[in-house]
Amino acid sequence: MDKVILSLDEGTTSARAIIFDRESNILGVGQYEFPQYYPKPGWVEHNPEEIWEAQLKAVKAALENAKVSPEQIAAIGVTNQRETTIIWDKNGKPVYNAIVWQCRRTAEMVEDIKRNYGEMIKAKTGLIPDAYFSASKIKWLLDNVPELRRKAEKGEVMFGTIDTFLIYKLTGEHVTDYSNASRTMLFNIKKLEWDEELLEIFGIPDAILPEVKESSEIYGYTKLFGKELPVSGDAGDQQAALFGQACFDEGMVKATYGTGNFILVNTGKELRYSKNLLTTIAWGFSGDVTYALEGSVFITGAAVQWLRDGIKIIKSAAETEELASKLASNEGLYFVPAFVGLGAPYWDQFARGLIIGITRGTSREHLVRATLEAIAYLTRDVVEEMEEEVPIKELRVDGGATGNSFLMRFQSDILGKRVIRPVVQETTALGAAYLAGLAVDYWESLEEIKALWKAEKVFEPKMSEDERGRLYKGWKEAVKRALGWAKV
Ligand code: G3P
Repeated sequence: MDKVILSLDEGTTSARAIIFDRESNILGVGQYEFPQYYPKPGWVEHNPEEIWEAQLKAVKAALENAKVSPEQIAAIGVTNQRETTIIWDKNGKPVYNAIVWQCRRTAEMVEDIKRNYGEMIKAKTGLIPDAYFSASKIKWLLDNVPELRRKAEKGEVMFGTIDTFLIYKLTGEHVTDYSNASRTMLFNIKKLEWDEELLEIFGIPDAILPEVKESSEIYGYTKLFGKELPVSGDAGDQQAALFGQACFDEGMVKATYGTGNFILVNTGKELRYSKNLLTTIAWGFSGDVTYALEGSVFITGAAVQWLRDGIKIIKSAAETEELASKLASNEGLYFVPAFVGLGAPYWDQFARGLIIGITRGTSREHLVRATLEAIAYLTRDVVEEMEEEVPIKELRVDGGATGNSFLMRFQSDILGKRVIRPVVQETTALGAAYLAGLAVDYWESLEEIKALWKAEKVFEPKMSEDERGRLYKGWKEAVKRALGWAKV
């Protein structure tokens, strides 16, 4: 009876479970969406109980699809939407909904903190202060849920990101890993400990914090699936994808194309800072931590969704490849999809979307093409910034939009670099599976995992240097005009 690894991949819109074998083949998948709540403009919440139910159903479906019994599971790995914040009591009951990473309710609170402590926070946590991270969300809960601060001070409640909540539900242990801790804006990534000064600034009692562990070790055991099973892998989804793409060496980059794009480069054991990128912990493994620089681009695939559901000029995302390919060039049309401001590397909360270069000849095809091109330009913006710190040879890509060959070709052209799509596209879940499997000797070493990574398709750049420069210059000019627009 061959053993397998069960990976729980809890994302922003759905909970998934994937079963992998030793060769990293996918044997079965289960996926359930859960509701999104928008109580006020700019606010985003999830119900943690609904996430948990969706996760359990996903496991059941994955086991059925894979025709695998719980006895065959060697270990369980967990990966998650990062930063999203939950506080729950000793019975595992949340005191309020989860405040999602996208939620802007604490934007003003963070503006003040950024003015006073911005540099110190960047030095200690690697992060550019933003409502995106957990710290201000925890403060909001403590300030707004009746009695919560008193309970927190007495250690009667627990804070955690989604990984911590799931592992608590599975094993009863209150833990997280370095990669998730590094997204809270409370964790000192140099000293590898919760930072007292930051806890003080945000008024957060340390009694509610989880213990921070490596990303690959046994955190506890669960009996929920009919047999006692170790839970032994934990990493935030973007870091897990870096691991799943086997980007173990310095300078290796992965880009995930989802609602937004998340681009991470492995920077090795040394802490490295970049003015406009986040420094983050990639993983803790074998007594060491590996660092990464990250560019988080908030809106990419969401711009294609807007073409479909907002202005309704396409019926499906899949159509965009053909529509864009009908044209020989963008003919001067640019679309900057700054719907919620711009993240890396611009960090402008007040930027807004802009379409520029419209003529009488502009058609739906032009706008579709400009949307796909924008995804590639936004990715180049981040890669350029990374190259200030570490040389970059190529990009390993994953996520839904990487199936769009027009986009991948254009990405390679506009970067002037090779873009590589791997055989296993489920790199996030695979990363968590690898971390879990390594902890129980299902896989022996990073070398073994490196050998499992295989390219499905390589896109080589074909565009001339001149053309690349001309097109990118136009993009930069367009972005300039989008910045600060909401303040005008
Ligand atoms: O930082 C947020 C990121 O972890 C969310 O990822 O894939 O759930 O949208 P995803």
